[in-house]
Amino acid sequence: MSGGWYGLAKPALFALDAETAHNVTLSMLSAYARVLPRPDPVEDGVEQMGLTFGSRLGLAAGLDKNARAIPAWQRLGFGFVEVGTVTAYPQPGNPPPRLFRIPDALALFNRMGFNNEGAEVVGQRLARLRDKDAVTVPVGINLGKSKVTPNAEAAADYKKSFRATAPYADYVVINVSSPNTPGLRNLQSTEQLAIILDAVMEANQELDQGRPVLVKLAPDLADEDTLACADTARDKGCAGLIISNTTIDKSLVDDPPAGSGGLSGAPLLARSTAQLKQVRDHVGPDFTLIGVGGVTDAAGAQAKRDAGADLVQIYSGLIYRGPRLIDELTAALADG
Ligand SMILES: Cc1cc2nc3c(=O)[nH]c(=O)nc-3n(C[C@H](O)[C@H](O)[C@H](O)COP(=O)(O)O)c2cc1C
Repeated sequence: MSGGWYGLAKPALFALDAETAHNVTLSMLSAYARVLPRPDPVEDGVEQMGLTFGSRLGLAAGLDKNARAIPAWQRLGFGFVEVGTVTAYPQPGNPPPRLFRIPDALALFNRMGFNNEGAEVVGQRLARLRDKDAVTVPVGINLGKSKVTPNAEAAADYKKSFRATAPYADYVVINVSSPNTPGLRNLQSTEQLAIILDAVMEANQELDQGRPVLVKLAPDLADEDTLACADTARDKGCAGLIISNTTIDKSLVDDPPAGSGGLSGAPLLARSTAQLKQVRDHVGPDFTLIGVGGVTDAAGAQAKRDAGADLVQIYSGLIYRGPRLIDELTAALADG
Protein backbone atom coordinates (compact mmCIF):
# COMPACT_ATOMS: atom_id res chain seq x y z
CA MET A 1 0.00 0.00 0.00
CA SER A 2 2.41 2.68 1.19
CA GLY A 3 5.82 1.26 0.43
CA GLY A 4 6.34 1.64 -3.30
CA TRP A 5 8.20 4.95 -3.11
CA TYR A 6 10.86 3.45 -0.88
CA GLY A 7 11.80 0.90 -3.54
CA LEU A 8 12.53 3.82 -5.86
CA ALA A 9 14.35 5.92 -3.27
CA LYS A 10 16.41 3.16 -1.64
CA PRO A 11 19.25 2.90 -4.19
CA ALA A 12 19.82 6.66 -3.97
CA LEU A 13 19.62 6.62 -0.18
CA PHE A 14 22.00 3.65 0.09
CA ALA A 15 24.47 5.52 -2.13
CA LEU A 16 24.73 8.08 0.66
CA ASP A 17 26.49 7.42 3.94
CA ALA A 18 24.08 5.94 6.46
CA GLU A 19 23.61 8.99 8.68
CA THR A 20 23.06 11.38 5.75
CA ALA A 21 20.47 8.99 4.31
CA HIS A 22 18.81 8.88 7.71
CA ASN A 23 18.65 12.68 7.95
CA VAL A 24 17.37 13.10 4.39
CA THR A 25 14.62 10.51 4.90
CA LEU A 26 13.55 11.99 8.22
CA SER A 27 13.39 15.50 6.75
CA MET A 28 11.27 14.25 3.86
CA LEU A 29 8.92 12.35 6.15
CA SER A 30 8.65 15.35 8.44
CA ALA A 31 7.86 17.75 5.60
CA TYR A 32 5.63 15.58 3.45
CA ALA A 33 3.64 13.42 5.89
CA ARG A 34 0.45 14.83 4.42
CA VAL A 35 1.01 13.34 0.96
CA LEU A 36 1.38 9.81 2.28
CA PRO A 37 -1.74 7.69 1.81
CA ARG A 38 -3.84 7.17 4.91
CA PRO A 39 -3.48 3.72 6.47
CA ASP A 40 -6.36 1.29 6.26
CA PRO A 41 -8.20 1.40 9.57
CA VAL A 42 -7.21 -1.42 11.88
CA GLU A 43 -10.31 -3.32 12.94
CA ASP A 44 -9.57 -3.87 16.61
CA GLY A 45 -7.21 -1.95 18.80
CA VAL A 46 -4.89 -3.82 21.16
CA GLU A 47 -5.32 -3.04 24.88
CA GLN A 48 -2.10 -2.91 26.89
CA MET A 49 -1.12 -0.89 29.95
CA GLY A 50 -4.48 0.89 29.91
CA LEU A 51 -3.84 2.21 26.38
CA THR A 52 -5.37 1.25 23.05
CA PHE A 53 -2.71 0.52 20.45
CA GLY A 54 -3.62 0.85 16.75
CA SER A 55 -1.88 -2.48 16.15
CA ARG A 56 0.83 -4.55 17.80
CA LEU A 57 3.56 -3.02 15.63
CA GLY A 58 5.48 0.06 16.69
CA LEU A 59 8.48 2.13 15.67
CA ALA A 60 11.45 1.49 17.97
CA ALA A 61 13.30 4.29 19.73
CA GLY A 62 16.24 6.02 18.11
CA LEU A 63 14.94 6.53 14.59
CA ASP A 64 12.92 9.65 15.43
CA LYS A 65 14.85 10.86 18.45
CA ASN A 66 13.44 14.39 18.35
CA ALA A 67 9.81 13.55 17.47
CA ARG A 68 10.02 15.24 14.08
CA ALA A 69 7.88 12.86 12.02
CA ILE A 70 5.10 11.41 14.18
CA PRO A 71 2.33 12.18 11.61
CA ALA A 72 4.35 10.32 8.97
CA TRP A 73 4.86 7.22 11.13
CA GLN A 74 1.11 7.16 11.78
CA ARG A 75 0.36 7.44 8.08
CA LEU A 76 2.82 4.68 7.28
CA GLY A 77 0.70 2.43 9.47
CA PHE A 78 2.52 2.03 12.78
CA GLY A 79 0.20 1.17 15.67
CA PHE A 80 2.40 3.11 18.08
CA VAL A 81 5.52 5.24 17.97
CA GLU A 82 8.37 5.57 20.42
CA VAL A 83 10.41 8.76 20.16
CA GLY A 84 13.74 9.56 21.82
CA THR A 85 16.06 8.78 23.37
CA VAL A 86 16.04 12.27 24.79
CA THR A 87 18.24 13.45 27.62
CA ALA A 88 17.71 16.22 30.19
CA TYR A 89 20.32 18.38 28.44
CA PRO A 90 20.63 18.68 24.66
CA GLN A 91 23.78 16.95 23.39
CA PRO A 92 25.55 16.38 20.06
CA GLY A 93 26.34 12.67 20.48
CA ASN A 94 29.57 11.02 19.39
CA PRO A 95 31.68 12.26 16.47
CA PRO A 96 30.83 10.75 13.06
CA PRO A 97 31.11 8.31 11.46
CA ARG A 98 28.77 6.70 13.97
CA LEU A 99 26.19 4.78 11.94
CA PHE A 100 27.12 1.91 9.62
CA ARG A 101 25.19 -0.46 7.36
CA ILE A 102 26.06 -4.15 7.14
CA PRO A 103 23.76 -5.01 4.22
CA ASP A 104 24.71 -8.67 3.77
CA ALA A 105 23.59 -9.33 7.33
CA LEU A 106 20.54 -6.99 7.27
CA ALA A 107 22.23 -5.27 10.21
CA LEU A 108 23.21 -1.83 11.44
CA PHE A 109 26.00 -0.84 13.79
CA ASN A 110 25.84 2.46 15.65
CA ARG A 111 27.52 4.56 18.30
CA MET A 112 25.30 7.62 17.99
CA GLY A 113 25.56 8.47 21.70
CA PHE A 114 22.12 10.01 22.29
CA ASN A 115 22.40 12.96 19.92
CA ASN A 116 19.19 14.88 20.66
CA GLU A 117 17.68 18.31 21.14
CA GLY A 118 16.94 17.74 24.81
CA ALA A 119 13.83 16.81 26.79
CA GLU A 120 12.45 20.34 27.03
CA VAL A 121 12.43 20.97 23.25
CA VAL A 122 11.07 17.53 22.40
CA GLY A 123 8.43 17.73 25.16
CA GLN A 124 7.20 21.04 23.76
CA ARG A 125 7.15 19.62 20.23
CA LEU A 126 4.91 16.81 21.46
CA ALA A 127 2.73 19.33 23.30
CA ARG A 128 2.16 21.27 20.06
CA LEU A 129 1.20 18.08 18.22
CA ARG A 130 -1.30 17.27 20.98
CA ASP A 131 -2.73 20.79 20.76
CA LYS A 132 -3.32 20.23 17.05
CA ASP A 133 -4.90 16.81 17.69
CA ALA A 134 -2.25 15.41 15.37
CA VAL A 135 -1.49 12.33 17.48
CA THR A 136 -3.67 9.32 16.65
CA VAL A 137 -1.69 6.39 18.11
CA PRO A 138 0.06 5.93 21.48
CA VAL A 139 3.37 7.79 21.57
CA GLY A 140 6.07 6.68 24.00
CA ILE A 141 8.99 8.83 25.05
CA ASN A 142 12.31 7.11 25.70
CA LEU A 143 14.56 8.76 28.30
CA GLY A 144 18.32 8.39 28.72
CA LYS A 145 20.92 9.92 30.99
CA SER A 146 22.75 13.04 29.83
CA LYS A 147 26.42 12.40 29.14
CA VAL A 148 27.46 15.32 31.41
CA THR A 149 25.58 13.87 34.37
CA PRO A 150 27.55 11.43 36.53
CA ASN A 151 25.88 8.09 37.29
CA ALA A 152 25.55 9.11 40.95
CA GLU A 153 23.15 11.86 39.84
CA ALA A 154 21.34 9.80 37.22
CA ALA A 155 18.03 9.63 39.11
CA ALA A 156 17.63 13.42 39.16
CA ASP A 157 18.57 13.59 35.47
CA TYR A 158 15.90 11.06 34.45
CA LYS A 159 13.37 12.83 36.68
CA LYS A 160 14.07 16.14 34.97
CA SER A 161 13.51 14.57 31.55
CA PHE A 162 10.38 12.84 32.81
CA ARG A 163 8.83 16.09 34.02
CA ALA A 164 9.56 17.81 30.69
CA THR A 165 8.09 15.08 28.50
CA ALA A 166 5.75 12.67 30.31
CA PRO A 167 2.73 15.03 30.36
CA TYR A 168 2.69 14.80 26.53
CA ALA A 169 3.47 11.09 26.20
CA ASP A 170 1.30 7.99 26.53
CA TYR A 171 4.07 5.88 28.04
CA VAL A 172 7.62 6.47 29.23
CA VAL A 173 10.68 4.26 28.79
CA ILE A 174 13.68 4.34 31.10
CA ASN A 175 16.59 3.46 28.86
CA VAL A 176 19.51 2.08 30.84
CA SER A 177 20.77 -0.09 28.02
CA SER A 178 22.42 1.98 25.30
CA PRO A 179 26.03 0.87 24.86
CA ASN A 180 27.05 4.33 23.64
CA THR A 181 26.96 6.45 26.79
CA PRO A 182 29.91 5.53 29.02
CA GLY A 183 28.74 3.65 32.13
CA LEU A 184 25.03 3.77 31.25
CA ARG A 185 24.58 0.02 31.34
CA ASN A 186 25.86 -0.02 34.94
CA LEU A 187 22.51 1.57 35.79
CA GLN A 188 20.97 -1.87 35.12
CA SER A 189 22.23 -3.03 38.52
CA THR A 190 19.18 -3.53 40.71
CA GLU A 191 20.38 -0.96 43.26
CA GLN A 192 20.87 1.77 40.66
CA LEU A 193 17.72 0.90 38.77
CA ALA A 194 15.66 1.02 41.97
CA ILE A 195 16.94 4.52 42.78
CA ILE A 196 16.12 5.79 39.29
CA LEU A 197 12.66 4.22 39.28
CA ASP A 198 11.85 5.64 42.73
CA ALA A 199 12.66 9.12 41.43
CA VAL A 200 10.69 8.67 38.23
CA MET A 201 7.67 7.21 40.03
CA GLU A 202 7.68 10.15 42.39
CA ALA A 203 7.42 12.49 39.40
CA ASN A 204 4.78 10.21 37.89
CA GLN A 205 2.57 10.75 40.92
CA GLU A 206 2.63 14.50 40.27
CA LEU A 207 0.63 13.92 37.06
CA ASP A 208 -3.18 13.88 37.08
CA GLN A 209 -2.95 10.47 35.54
CA GLY A 210 0.26 8.47 35.95
CA ARG A 211 1.87 7.15 32.79
CA PRO A 212 2.86 3.53 32.26
CA VAL A 213 6.62 3.32 32.77
CA LEU A 214 8.76 0.63 31.12
CA VAL A 215 12.45 -0.26 31.34
CA LYS A 216 14.48 -1.11 28.24
CA LEU A 217 17.13 -3.78 28.75
CA ALA A 218 20.35 -4.79 27.01
CA PRO A 219 20.62 -8.24 25.42
CA ASP A 220 24.09 -8.58 26.88
CA LEU A 221 22.90 -8.96 30.48
CA ALA A 222 23.56 -12.28 32.20
CA ASP A 223 20.36 -14.30 32.67
CA GLU A 224 20.17 -13.68 36.40
CA ASP A 225 20.69 -9.95 35.93
CA THR A 226 17.91 -9.81 33.33
CA LEU A 227 15.50 -11.44 35.77
CA ALA A 228 16.66 -9.24 38.66
CA CYS A 229 15.93 -6.16 36.54
CA ALA A 230 12.50 -7.54 35.68
CA ASP A 231 11.75 -8.09 39.38
CA THR A 232 12.94 -4.59 40.29
CA ALA A 233 10.86 -3.02 37.53
CA ARG A 234 7.77 -4.84 38.73
CA ASP A 235 8.40 -4.10 42.41
CA LYS A 236 8.73 -0.40 41.61
CA GLY A 237 5.41 -0.26 39.77
CA CYS A 238 6.54 -0.39 36.15
CA ALA A 239 4.02 -1.52 33.54
CA GLY A 240 6.46 -3.54 31.48
CA LEU A 241 9.82 -4.04 29.81
CA ILE A 242 11.26 -3.50 26.35
CA ILE A 243 13.55 -6.31 25.25
CA SER A 244 15.99 -5.47 23.82
CA ASN A 245 18.42 -2.75 22.89
CA THR A 246 21.40 -3.34 20.56
CA THR A 247 24.14 -5.85 21.43
CA ILE A 248 27.84 -5.10 21.88
CA ASP A 249 28.66 -8.62 20.61
CA LYS A 250 30.34 -7.90 17.29
CA SER A 251 31.04 -11.59 16.73
CA LEU A 252 27.47 -11.94 15.43
CA VAL A 253 28.62 -10.49 12.08
CA ASP A 254 31.58 -11.48 9.91
CA ASP A 255 33.14 -8.13 9.22
CA PRO A 256 32.02 -5.57 11.80
CA PRO A 257 33.00 -1.89 11.62
CA ALA A 258 35.95 -0.89 13.80
CA GLY A 259 35.39 0.68 17.19
CA SER A 260 32.68 0.45 19.79
CA GLY A 261 28.94 0.47 19.22
CA GLY A 262 25.75 -1.55 19.20
CA LEU A 263 24.66 -4.10 16.62
CA SER A 264 21.02 -4.31 15.51
CA GLY A 265 19.03 -6.10 12.83
CA ALA A 266 18.80 -9.76 11.82
CA PRO A 267 21.82 -11.04 13.80
CA LEU A 268 20.13 -9.87 17.02
CA LEU A 269 16.89 -11.82 16.52
CA ALA A 270 17.81 -15.08 18.25
CA ARG A 271 19.44 -13.52 21.29
CA SER A 272 16.87 -10.81 21.99
CA THR A 273 14.00 -13.26 21.44
CA ALA A 274 15.54 -15.80 23.84
CA GLN A 275 15.89 -13.07 26.46
CA LEU A 276 12.26 -12.08 25.91
CA LYS A 277 11.09 -15.65 26.41
CA GLN A 278 13.16 -15.99 29.54
CA VAL A 279 11.50 -12.90 31.00
CA ARG A 280 8.00 -13.96 29.95
CA ASP A 281 8.48 -17.35 31.61
CA HIS A 282 9.61 -15.55 34.76
CA VAL A 283 7.01 -12.76 35.04
CA GLY A 284 3.89 -14.61 33.86
CA PRO A 285 1.21 -13.18 31.58
CA ASP A 286 0.29 -9.92 33.31
CA PHE A 287 3.26 -7.70 32.55
CA THR A 288 3.57 -5.95 29.20
CA LEU A 289 6.59 -7.01 27.16
CA ILE A 290 7.59 -5.19 24.00
CA GLY A 291 9.79 -7.39 21.81
CA VAL A 292 12.37 -5.67 19.62
CA GLY A 293 15.53 -6.88 17.94
CA GLY A 294 16.11 -8.37 14.54
CA VAL A 295 12.59 -8.44 13.14
CA THR A 296 12.94 -8.19 9.36
CA ASP A 297 10.02 -10.38 8.23
CA ALA A 298 6.73 -11.94 9.35
CA ALA A 299 8.49 -15.00 10.78
CA GLY A 300 10.56 -12.76 13.05
CA ALA A 301 7.47 -10.94 14.29
CA GLN A 302 5.77 -14.26 14.94
CA ALA A 303 8.85 -15.45 16.85
CA LYS A 304 8.50 -12.43 19.16
CA ARG A 305 4.82 -13.23 19.73
CA ASP A 306 5.61 -16.88 20.39
CA ALA A 307 8.22 -15.82 22.91
CA GLY A 308 5.64 -13.74 24.76
CA ALA A 309 5.72 -10.25 23.26
CA ASP A 310 2.49 -8.28 23.58
CA LEU A 311 3.81 -5.63 21.20
CA VAL A 312 6.66 -5.62 18.68
CA GLN A 313 8.94 -2.83 17.46
CA ILE A 314 11.25 -2.47 14.48
CA TYR A 315 14.12 -0.23 13.45
CA SER A 316 16.78 -1.91 11.27
CA GLY A 317 14.29 -3.99 9.28
CA LEU A 318 12.58 -0.79 8.19
CA ILE A 319 15.85 0.56 6.76
CA TYR A 320 16.37 -2.55 4.62
CA ARG A 321 12.80 -3.50 3.72
CA GLY A 322 11.12 -0.10 3.72
CA PRO A 323 7.53 0.72 4.69
CA ARG A 324 6.11 -2.37 3.00
CA LEU A 325 7.48 -4.24 6.01
CA ILE A 326 5.00 -2.32 8.18
CA ASP A 327 2.06 -3.72 6.20
CA GLU A 328 3.54 -7.21 6.20
CA LEU A 329 4.15 -7.27 9.95
CA THR A 330 0.87 -5.59 10.86
CA ALA A 331 -0.96 -8.34 9.00
CA ALA A 332 1.18 -11.09 10.56
CA LEU A 333 0.66 -9.72 14.06
CA ALA A 334 -3.09 -9.25 13.59
CA ASP A 335 -3.45 -13.00 13.29
CA GLY A 336 -1.57 -14.03 16.37
C1 LIG B 1 20.95 3.98 14.66
C2 LIG B 1 20.24 3.45 15.85
C3 LIG B 1 19.98 4.32 16.91
C4 LIG B 1 19.30 3.85 18.05
N1 LIG B 1 19.02 4.73 19.06
C5 LIG B 1 18.33 4.28 20.14
C6 LIG B 1 17.97 5.18 21.16
O1 LIG B 1 18.23 6.39 21.10
N2 LIG B 1 17.31 4.69 22.23
C7 LIG B 1 16.95 3.36 22.35
O2 LIG B 1 16.34 2.97 23.32
N3 LIG B 1 17.27 2.49 21.36
C8 LIG B 1 17.93 2.92 20.27
N4 LIG B 1 18.24 2.05 19.27
C9 LIG B 1 17.88 0.60 19.44
C10 LIG B 1 16.56 0.26 18.78
O3 LIG B 1 15.47 0.94 19.38
C11 LIG B 1 16.32 -1.26 18.89
O4 LIG B 1 16.22 -1.61 20.25
C12 LIG B 1 17.44 -2.08 18.25
O5 LIG B 1 17.90 -1.46 17.08
C13 LIG B 1 16.99 -3.50 17.92
O6 LIG B 1 15.93 -3.48 16.98
P1 LIG B 1 16.15 -3.75 15.40
O7 LIG B 1 16.96 -5.00 15.29
O8 LIG B 1 14.76 -3.85 14.84
O9 LIG B 1 16.89 -2.56 14.88
C14 LIG B 1 18.90 2.49 18.12
C15 LIG B 1 19.17 1.63 17.05
C16 LIG B 1 19.82 2.10 15.91
C17 LIG B 1 20.08 1.15 14.78
